[in-house]
Amino acid sequence: MSFVITTPLYYVNDKPHLGSIYTTIICDAIARYKRLMGEQVIFITGVDEHGLKIQRKANENSIDPQIHCNQISNIFTENWMDWDITYDKFIRTSSKHHETVVNEFYGRVKKSDDIYMGVQKGWYCVGCEEFKDNPENSSTYKCPIHQKNLEWRNEENLFFRLSKYQSQIEEIINNPTFIQPKERRNEIINFVSKGLKDFSISRTNVAWGISVPGLDKHTFYVWFDALLGYVSALSLDEKEDSLNKAINGGWPANIHLIGKDILRFHAVYWPAMLISAGLELPKKVLGHGFLTREGQKMGKSLGNVLDPKLLLSKYGRDPVRWFLIKDISLGNDGDFQNKRFVDIINNDLANTIGNLLNRTSSMSRKWFKNKVPNDVKTTENNELASLSKITVDRYINNFNAYKLDLASSDILNFAINTNLYLNDKQPWILIKQDSNIPYVKEIIYNVLESTRIIGLLLLPILPELSAKIDVQLGCIYKKESPWQGQLKWGLLNQDSELPNPFPIINKLEYE
Ligand code: MSP
Repeated sequence: MSFVITTPLYYVNDKPHLGSIYTTIICDAIARYKRLMGEQVIFITGVDEHGLKIQRKANENSIDPQIHCNQISNIFTENWMDWDITYDKFIRTSSKHHETVVNEFYGRVKKSDDIYMGVQKGWYCVGCEEFKDNPENSSTYKCPIHQKNLEWRNEENLFFRLSKYQSQIEEIINNPTFIQPKERRNEIINFVSKGLKDFSISRTNVAWGISVPGLDKHTFYVWFDALLGYVSALSLDEKEDSLNKAINGGWPANIHLIGKDILRFHAVYWPAMLISAGLELPKKVLGHGFLTREGQKMGKSLGNVLDPKLLLSKYGRDPVRWFLIKDISLGNDGDFQNKRFVDIINNDLANTIGNLLNRTSSMSRKWFKNKVPNDVKTTENNELASLSKITVDRYINNFNAYKLDLASSDILNFAINTNLYLNDKQPWILIKQDSNIPYVKEIIYNVLESTRIIGLLLLPILPELSAKIDVQLGCIYKKESPWQGQLKWGLLNQDSELPNPFPIINKLEYE
């Protein structure tokens, strides 16, 4: 059985910004962790290319929508490469392959008698690609996410009978593990309790979409088509395009990781569509908060985004990953402020983890001929060994519960306590007396061993820093043997060479 995890499929109205990178990095860390835990992972990402928003963007640039999509889609894959995102499938919803799957799926939903023609009247936000529930002063009302006026719609559309699934959806969202975190789940429970209304799944005013079979002028509503990208991604490598091939490729997904603005689509509409078509439901929808700037959602439409390329060239991958994973609790909003970013990187990575490695390996090199001390009895009966075990257990529990911020803090706290242990033992004083040498060896070994475990625990979160720690300790993580087994105390080879030190993380300066 595969472990399938998905990012949202990003709109190609613009290139990725830090908000898109955020979701993708969290998914990447989870995917890396699951692989280390021995699971067969399928990590899906991609782009959502249809709809009015994209059509308009292409028109603005006087460019054919497909060419526009090709260009932006390439920028997404380039970005994912730059950020070393370990995805397995990249789905594009303008592909022929995807269209086949959408058409077959539609056929199934129709067969369940869940489609009918109706008239859709209402206020539409093109930014959200969503109808809004009759806001007051609708004509002057601005969508709080996109700060744009709504547009009035009155047209014939196909509808999906969402209302038929009221009790089934209630049951699904009542399961506390389906929507996480809790606050997000409560929002959805509240929304569903007001009664589900059928929603329109076709458009007559949008040419840039998948044509509805047998209905001239109708294209599928972008969300109806886009959600299916998660399924069609699963048969990307098959020669034959078919819904069944896709389902057999690993459906259902274990996790959809998404932002809170698109939770309704994933936790309400999508399950109903899947039940209607006879497909299994995803196991979990994880809704994260927004990255904000000055308290407002960072967004392509608002133009207040941080350019990931700039951040990458200035700081490198791992510092940005650490900030996004450790400083923002999944589900909460997080404001990106340069000062805080610099402080966190300098305190956590440079002063705590980097310094721990540096000072201990320097001592060991100086006192023990450039080597890890030898003749040390690696007993688990010491405070760092016990702390290491507690840390590993906590970290695994937190990661399994997708509390990546807490798992990161577990590592950091272990590093802080290891530094305290060193300060407390003061081996630089003890070493002055020959009779203390066996004890000093034990202290240095314990600290180096803790650092090795810290490096290993960092592997899914900060892969580069983790590798650098390994290199400095002269002990490369062994891909061929289980990662969890390598988290056991006492595996650092005694008497092995410690290479020349180099800085594993540079201190950052304020802007
Ligand atoms: N195309 C839809 C998703 C379809 S999934 C089948 C879409 N695209 S989007 O590009 O607008 O947003 C993609 C994801 O990025 C969403 O989960 C959204 O919440 C997230 N983010 C966009 N801006 C963000 C921030 N400022 N902060 C965090 N996440 C943000 O919606």
